Amino acid sequence: MPEVAVRLVGVSKRFGTTVAVDHLDLEIARGEFFAILGPSGCGKTTTLRIVAGLEQPTAGEVQVGGNVVTNLPPYRRNIGMVFQDYALFPHMTVVNNIAFGLRMKGWPASRIESRVKALLDLIRLPHIGDRFPNQLSGGQQQRVALARALAPEPAVLLLDEPLSNLDLKLRQEMRLEIRRIQRELGVTTIFVTHDQGEALSLSDRVMVMREGRVSQVGSPVELYEHPGNSWVASFLGDANLFRGALRSDSGQTLLTTESGLAFRLPAGQHAEMTNATATVAIRPESVRLFAEDADIDGQTGSTFVGYVENFAYVGAGTRYVVRFEKAPSQEVLVDISEPGVPWRDGTRVPGCFPVERWIIRDDCSTWVERTQSIARRRVALGLSPAARLELLAEPPHRLELLKS
Ligand SMILES: Nc1ncnc2c1ncn2[C@@H]1O[C@H](COP(=O)(O)OP(=O)(O)OP(=O)(O)O)[C@@H](O)[C@H]1O
Ligand SMILES: [Mg+2]
Repeated sequence: MPEVAVRLVGVSKRFGTTVAVDHLDLEIARGEFFAILGPSGCGKTTTLRIVAGLEQPTAGEVQVGGNVVTNLPPYRRNIGMVFQDYALFPHMTVVNNIAFGLRMKGWPASRIESRVKALLDLIRLPHIGDRFPNQLSGGQQQRVALARALAPEPAVLLLDEPLSNLDLKLRQEMRLEIRRIQRELGVTTIFVTHDQGEALSLSDRVMVMREGRVSQVGSPVELYEHPGNSWVASFLGDANLFRGALRSDSGQTLLTTESGLAFRLPAGQHAEMTNATATVAIRPESVRLFAEDADIDGQTGSTFVGYVENFAYVGAGTRYVVRFEKAPSQEVLVDISEPGVPWRDGTRVPGCFPVERWIIRDDCSTWVERTQSIARRRVALGLSPAARLELLAEPPHRLELLKS
């Protein structure tokens, strides 16, 4: 088990009647790059401010490096923070901005000088030390803010949407830059963002938050390929969701929607959920389209015929909106990575949902009930709250395994 750098135990935060953070249990390993991802207002900044000591939790405990810091002021927590607006001191030069925290800590001048120089090299801006913040571009200010936060060698670095003020190109460059610096220093980093691409491309693990709670924690691959519920599936990338009734049919599971579509799902899972209502999800890049006159009878999966309603060429591929011939009220998003635009508006296209590409089946009521009952069993077995958290984050098909 890797050393835990930051641990939150049952942390809640209420502002009046608003519950910003709701019973959060979390463990972040030393050296980990951990992202908190979620929609606006879900409690990301509040969580970060609680770790920093800028906000006092209503309940629960905060630990940094194994020590309880819940009642310690920010400056005694050994934490560096970069805010969304950088918050550089406008009347100080870059050198003085970076040196500020070190002077407060009483470092000797010679040590400060060499530390500032090393940081200016690290952020690849060795020649801007004498400038003031208003003489820097957005990306340069962002790097200086990062250097200032890193200067006192914090045990934990907190970044609150540090790239949101930058244009797309610079944001992509700075992503790589932040990751390089984080790897070079090995500093435990918590990165708050509402940008899915940013969270997936930067992080060792991501926590998806919704309304103050953990929706799922996992590696980027786990979250994208095995989302624990349909909300996570649609929040992290796009997902086609279909709701309908499950039934078994000669060893196969079928889902039939009210609009008359029928999908063949992987066999053998959730046999006991037969006759339940469920939502299934498939990614746009997993749906296949064929030439207009192609014979699709031999395809394994659920075949369909649709009409191209709309398309958008995005360089790396084309995003299609296809309307089902049999169920005109329903459409499906399809991403095709072939060069050019193989189909145009109005084209009749045969397609297929490959049986193995369904990523999730959940039924809110059944799923939550089963998850909780298994979690209770695990807790009864003496597992820690964190183990319970991991468990609640398990995708449903893995819960099957845990159950037996
Ligand atoms: N000081 C405060 N007083 C009252 N309510 C607050 C305060 N700070 C945050 N909130 C509320 O707590 C909830 C969570 O806010 P928070 O800033 O943590 O969200 P966020 O996930 O960071 O959102 P965003 O992506 O928009 O930055 C919101 O409903 C917000 O209005
Ligand atoms: Mg915020």
